[in-house]
Amino acid sequence: MAKKDIDWANLGFGYIVTDKRYVSNYKDGAWDDGAIVDDPNITLNECAGVFQYAQTVFEGLKAYTTEDGHIVTFRPDLNAERLEESCRRLEIPVLPEGRFLEAVREVVAANEDWVPPYGSGATLYIRPYVMGTNPVIGVKPADEYQFRILVTPVGPYFKGGAKPLTIRVSDFDRAAPHGTGHIKAGLNYAMSLHAIVSAHKEGYDENMYLDPGTRTKVEETGGANFLFVTKDGKVVTPKSDSILPSITRRSLMIVAEKYLGLTVEHREVYLDELGDMAECGLCGTAAVISPVGCIDDHGRKIMFPSGMEEMGPVTKKLYDTLTGIQMGRIEAPEGWICTIK
Ligand code: PLP
Ligand code: COI
Repeated sequence: MAKKDIDWANLGFGYIVTDKRYVSNYKDGAWDDGAIVDDPNITLNECAGVFQYAQTVFEGLKAYTTEDGHIVTFRPDLNAERLEESCRRLEIPVLPEGRFLEAVREVVAANEDWVPPYGSGATLYIRPYVMGTNPVIGVKPADEYQFRILVTPVGPYFKGGAKPLTIRVSDFDRAAPHGTGHIKAGLNYAMSLHAIVSAHKEGYDENMYLDPGTRTKVEETGGANFLFVTKDGKVVTPKSDSILPSITRRSLMIVAEKYLGLTVEHREVYLDELGDMAECGLCGTAAVISPVGCIDDHGRKIMFPSGMEEMGPVTKKLYDTLTGIQMGRIEAPEGWICTIK
């Protein structure tokens, strides 16, 4: 077996069809054994629950090649846990955590040649998802479901690599209802598509969503949580129960405190206080940590002192430590790294 002939260093964040995917079906109240399959296409009835009422949820994680040549994933147990919460909220039957972890392991191992090499700048993105598959016409949950995992090699989520981003305060709400932030459901993301297209048209990299109730507090972007660094070096991340509880953000809070000795605050963050911050970044599986240089609040530009050329110093330390842990250069906390081979 040999690595695929891909220009890893120049990959963007896109879908490339790989050799194998994982599929398990739920019928008559039980999940089948699941299997690795070849066919990337899905044939479903026109009235399937996923099409009619968007009864679908997903997860996102990555596989990394470490410095010493192993293939690993990062805290996949937390993806299993979050998928379970998403499923419960959308009345989708839960795939047990052990099954989820085994499926991730099998699908990554089956696509070993697609896992980008160490140091290439690319990683293997892993996308587990579940959907209602049988016909549903009245508003109710489906009775049959399919769980799948696709994998695809990816480069940086934002074009321009590590160049700081310019984002805008969005007038659109992402319509993630209060208290549903744990859900990674197709529906919430569909509600952000218009906002993202219009932000790009106007020259912004992303949207900053505010709390829809008061429009004074920072929530998150379309695909990542925020983190800020205060002028006295504290790491601050917005607390809200209508944002996705990012595994990257939760991990970075531990990294900041335990590895870098920084003070961490997880609290409500007001748009009004952003002018006092020294650094800003977006964090997530896809975004890793992408620095933000400018936030445009309807023409009022908040320029972070870290500037538009490079990551701020604290953001850089967080980035180096997190990626060091993921790529095996820095010892990980107990249980964070799951070795596949
Ligand atoms: N927020 C949103 C809306 C996301 O889509 C993601 C990506 O999964 C995140 C935050 C970051 O979460 P994680 O760090 O678990 O990837
Ligand atoms: C992830 O980081 O896994 C996400 O779901 C973000 C998505 C915008 C690609």
